[in-house]
Amino acid sequence: MDRIRIVGGRPLNGTIPIGGAKNAALPLMIAGLLTRETVTLHNVPRLSDVRQLMRILGNHGVDAAISGKRAGQAEDAGDTITLSARDIVDSTAPYELVSKMRASFWVIAPLLARMGEARVSLPGGCAIGTRPVDLLLMALERLGASIEIEGGYVVAKAAKGLRGGEIFFPKVTVGGTHTALMAATLARGTTVIDNAAQEPEVTDLALCLTKMGAKISGAGTARIVVEGVERLDGAHHAVLPDRIETGTYAMAVAMTGGDILLQGARADLLQSAFDVLRQVGAEVTETNEGVRVRRNGGGIRPVDVTTAPFPGFPTDLQAQFMALMTMADGTSRIRETIFENRFMHVQELARLGAQIRLEGDTAIIEGRPVLTGAPVMATDLRASVSLVIGGLAAEGETMVHRVYHLDRGFEALEKKLVRCGAEIERLGGDG
Ligand code: EPZ
Repeated sequence: MDRIRIVGGRPLNGTIPIGGAKNAALPLMIAGLLTRETVTLHNVPRLSDVRQLMRILGNHGVDAAISGKRAGQAEDAGDTITLSARDIVDSTAPYELVSKMRASFWVIAPLLARMGEARVSLPGGCAIGTRPVDLLLMALERLGASIEIEGGYVVAKAAKGLRGGEIFFPKVTVGGTHTALMAATLARGTTVIDNAAQEPEVTDLALCLTKMGAKISGAGTARIVVEGVERLDGAHHAVLPDRIETGTYAMAVAMTGGDILLQGARADLLQSAFDVLRQVGAEVTETNEGVRVRRNGGGIRPVDVTTAPFPGFPTDLQAQFMALMTMADGTSRIRETIFENRFMHVQELARLGAQIRLEGDTAIIEGRPVLTGAPVMATDLRASVSLVIGGLAAEGETMVHRVYHLDRGFEALEKKLVRCGAEIERLGGDG
């Protein structure tokens, strides 16, 4: 298993290109199952989760291909993927495939909508909480599906097709909203989704579905209305930039100091995190090319943060922000409200000398002037990258083990950081 070796203590200076959002690309690829026609996605990040989903879609009979780089195309431009689900050959998503990635569970919606039945293994994914699927199943039931659990599989049926219905989510769920939205596009009649997730990735999915001929209004608000149509067409769609990758590098430069242009980033997708970074003492400015973040001199001010659904502070940046706060000039508190077990990075950051204690859903971080490099273990995707950020700021050598988690969500991480002056390399070898 690969490791990442970092020698910390250098500021980051330069340009980091921001890729397409993993958490938009995955539902967009799944939406390809909704139509017999070809869906072409541009700016798809090169990530192991994307490859894994291609395998899963292939299992259902989707012809999924990555087209080669075009002449003159920038090195960092994402892939173009074409998906043709002309004939769905299998409406079962097996345990071996679904257990590796939670988002793959969402295939249940298009399979059910198009085939009238789906058999999908209960999901896996990052170990950050219990992460049930009850709300996703409730949404499908509201659209007329019958649901049973058999031997670890969800068996969903709607022999006469789905029909529009009223869905109210008692808790904001991104996956629940994606699932309801996809299923509703092909249901007979009108569906209203209340307390819908407002995350930009939901809006991106709705945009692509609309290009495919779906009738959707209100995406990006808490109430989405969908008029079902009989069939959807193909479409071309470019995946929106990854706000979590953007925020991650922004946290890194706020911690190490320096001046970075996050090329292609969109500030409007990340206002809450940028507001917090400004309070911390970083300068954040929008430019024609993206977002520029710098911190030259001045300390890191402690700031309290509570994670919340969009437009609040994203849970997917909580670990990275905690790394930053470990070197703040004082005490900060971070409250995690989305996932109950998303503090696996705390004990690993402690290996670098961070002082953090947990009180229920809140981490209390006593900032210190210096962190010291150490061997650390990646536990989940965003936790892993918080260790990389910690390592970039710590004195001496940090070795991050189990980096396969990083490859699920950060394209060319070492390359992007090396270009900005970081001393970071990937080593083959032990775990
Ligand atoms: C998406 O997960 C993201 N994944 C997560 O990113 C992200 O952390 C999360 O949304 C919140 O923003 C993808 O987009 C692929 P939820 P999702 O349903 O959809 C509870 C990353 O690192 N819940 O919004 O699975 C759930 O337990 C990943 O890229 C139920 O109780 O999250 C959680 O507490 C990690 N019942 C809350 O809702 C359900 O049926 C929000 O989860 C569904 C969810």
